[in-house]
Amino acid sequence: MPTLKTTTLLLIVFLVVSNILAQESQEAFHPGKPWMDTEGNIINAHGGGILFDDGIYYWFGEKRGKHRSQGVNVYSSKDLYNWKPEGLALSPVDGDDDHDIARGCVMERPKVIYNEKTGKYVMWFHLELKGQGYSAARAAVAVSDKVTGPYTFVHSYRPNGNMSRDMTLLQEEDGTAYHIYSSRENYDLRIAKLSEDYLHHTKDDHLMFSEHREAPAIVKHDGKYFLITSACTGWKPNAAAVHVAKSLVGPWKRYENPMRGPEADITFDAQSTFIFPVQGKEDQLIFMADRWQPNDLINSPYIWLPIEWENELPTVEWNDNWNLNDFE
Ligand code: DGJ
Repeated sequence: MPTLKTTTLLLIVFLVVSNILAQESQEAFHPGKPWMDTEGNIINAHGGGILFDDGIYYWFGEKRGKHRSQGVNVYSSKDLYNWKPEGLALSPVDGDDDHDIARGCVMERPKVIYNEKTGKYVMWFHLELKGQGYSAARAAVAVSDKVTGPYTFVHSYRPNGNMSRDMTLLQEEDGTAYHIYSSRENYDLRIAKLSEDYLHHTKDDHLMFSEHREAPAIVKHDGKYFLITSACTGWKPNAAAVHVAKSLVGPWKRYENPMRGPEADITFDAQSTFIFPVQGKEDQLIFMADRWQPNDLINSPYIWLPIEWENELPTVEWNDNWNLNDFE
């Protein structure tokens, strides 16, 4: 029988070793593998997006339990491999079941941009009201003076009366920002210009195409817009498509599956969420996707892969271990 002293000693050794392991820094991406934060916990930021601000990347995403939505988490990183938890950027509201973001509501696909004119960080996300399944179909916005929050909820609604589910944001170099959203039971994909303070939709709201697509991830490259989307099959993966246009109001031309490699026909068993540029590396873009586990959403793995170009179209090739030097 180990004595109490030996047990305590073993426990201390265990805690020290696990702390060292937790802080061991990573130097590569391992798509589909569990991804730990700098404190050794699984990164909980699904359907996410990245904001680069003052030399630091911020990863915003859905905080999930086994299934339930628990707000929006934010992590920070200087190298894109190692992410420090910065806590809940936006929390559901307790004690007021009539609040738009009452605990029990669903917050999905949060994206954050910075507004130069107001000096505020603005977060848009897909909101479903508590107890109403996916029927509310609203866009919601929250603001903060500080990038990591806490964000203050502003309001939620259907943009220009349109249903709004999966979404992303696009910010142009001149500061104009757009909300791209799945509408009309996801049959339409729409794009609406946001007001100058980014807190409202303008009437400048256009149908992009009606092809029953969701999970939009957009990037501008060489003067053209490239939009990767999925089909609508709930949490189940399907084949991605890419739409290309010279102008945000279209016309949008569709090209089939940009994914390459094993399970490319089901987006590597995942669904698109965001595309972002690596700072300091010209034209180097990362594609982000979620490998949803609907009965264990918190542990849904992340798929991050580099975007390559083939005949002026983006492609994403599977790679189970890669790093930013592979871009050289
Ligand atoms: C697919 C969407 O892309 C996800 O964000 C989520 O809303 C699921 N559907 C829910 O079934």
